[in-house]
Amino acid sequence: SESGCLSIVVLGASGDLAKKKTFPALFHLFQQGFLQSGEVHIFGYARSDISDDGLRERIRGYLKGASDEVISEFLQLSMKIQKATNQEARVDYFIWHCLHQSTPSNDGWTRVIVEKPFGKDLDSAEELSAQLGELFNEQQLYRIDHYLGKELVQNLLVLRFANRLFLPLWNRDNIANVQIVFREDFGTEGRGGYFDQYGIIRDIIQNHLLQVFCLVAMEKPVSLKPEHIRDEKVKVLQSVTPINHDEVVLGQYDGYKDDSTVPDDSNTPTFASLVLRVHNERWEGVPFILKAGKALNNRKAEIRVQFKDAPGDIFKCKKQGRNEFVIRLQPSEAMYMKLTVKKPGLEMATEQSELDLSYGLRYQDVKIPEAYERLILDTIRGDQQHFVRRDELRAAWEIFTPLLHDIDAGKLKALPYKPGTRGPSEADELSKRMGYVQTHGYVWIPPTLS
Ligand code: BG6
Repeated sequence: SESGCLSIVVLGASGDLAKKKTFPALFHLFQQGFLQSGEVHIFGYARSDISDDGLRERIRGYLKGASDEVISEFLQLSMKIQKATNQEARVDYFIWHCLHQSTPSNDGWTRVIVEKPFGKDLDSAEELSAQLGELFNEQQLYRIDHYLGKELVQNLLVLRFANRLFLPLWNRDNIANVQIVFREDFGTEGRGGYFDQYGIIRDIIQNHLLQVFCLVAMEKPVSLKPEHIRDEKVKVLQSVTPINHDEVVLGQYDGYKDDSTVPDDSNTPTFASLVLRVHNERWEGVPFILKAGKALNNRKAEIRVQFKDAPGDIFKCKKQGRNEFVIRLQPSEAMYMKLTVKKPGLEMATEQSELDLSYGLRYQDVKIPEAYERLILDTIRGDQQHFVRRDELRAAWEIFTPLLHDIDAGKLKALPYKPGTRGPSEADELSKRMGYVQTHGYVWIPPTLS
């Protein structure tokens, strides 16, 4: 507003997301001087019966890396808790309230960050979009997908379009297959009730992995303007052909149904691997394998671009494996390129090695910001580049809705898998069937500071 004051209202202030992500992100922004005390007010709306101090103490436990004094300053100066009554806790009421109470002056603004779930399928998402659309215009709506706030996801545009090296290679002539993989080494503990209503496709693939997919597969935008970027994302989504059920593997880990909030006959997948195909000049015939799972053997998110074999091979390097460009989103951000090189020594033998850009080593003094921190700042600055536009959301749901309806109707079954494993072996078979060639004996070892 004119006075330079900013009010931030956090809905669901006593919830999981608020304490783990939203408040820590606001705190980091505060620490870096983006939210000045006196100019910023943070209001928390909570449904649970909790006092101001009770909430502050709960949040305090999640604020790290600062003195108690700074933390208290953040908690005290900028937080006023207004407990919502049951009726007020309804989101539509709240939004109405917020809009009408804030009465921004001419140069003031109201922006709303909306967190998933954005509906459960195409129709429910469109209904939600229509409701929000009655209250706010698209320029005020910031549909958040926190994967778009991750450093290496943001790097994708630069990598692809600022490097001559990649430009001529990034297509069906050279790329055999692409995998976008998310793994977690824990289950749905404590969130079973929510999760069972959604499943891994709605929780991870339809949003996070699909956003990454867009940035890997889309054409070069006209400019960096948010609308230009989002136009290209919509286009590539619209080029995705219907998902073939033969190219889907679902899994559910043993023990998932032990959670009292999960029904005994639940068919909800906690693991899914599926293939997207893009019907355009660049990608015809290249499978994009999107894979996500909970309770697996490790925690990792990466993009793996596998190139075709070198034609006319004289080194018999086929058994060594193919070139791969791997972008590791987390943990230990890195990108590395798997190459075949001469094995050092007297013999003329080949082996796989890598060109490695590991962020921890290369950018030792840089602290990589948290996704939510960056995206909240973008919202304050009014930059919608890393947020999901309404038509983009629609296109995303169009891809997954038929499959989701069939899963909900029990037409596809989730295969059981043991927690702590790679998931159902059928998923590895699917990748193989899609032409992915696994290199045996090659392991990328993240370099450490010595
Ligand atoms: C959330 C999902 O959107 O992303 C969770 O609802 C998941 O199920 C989380 O654990 C993963 O986020 P990150 O940033 O830890 O990879």
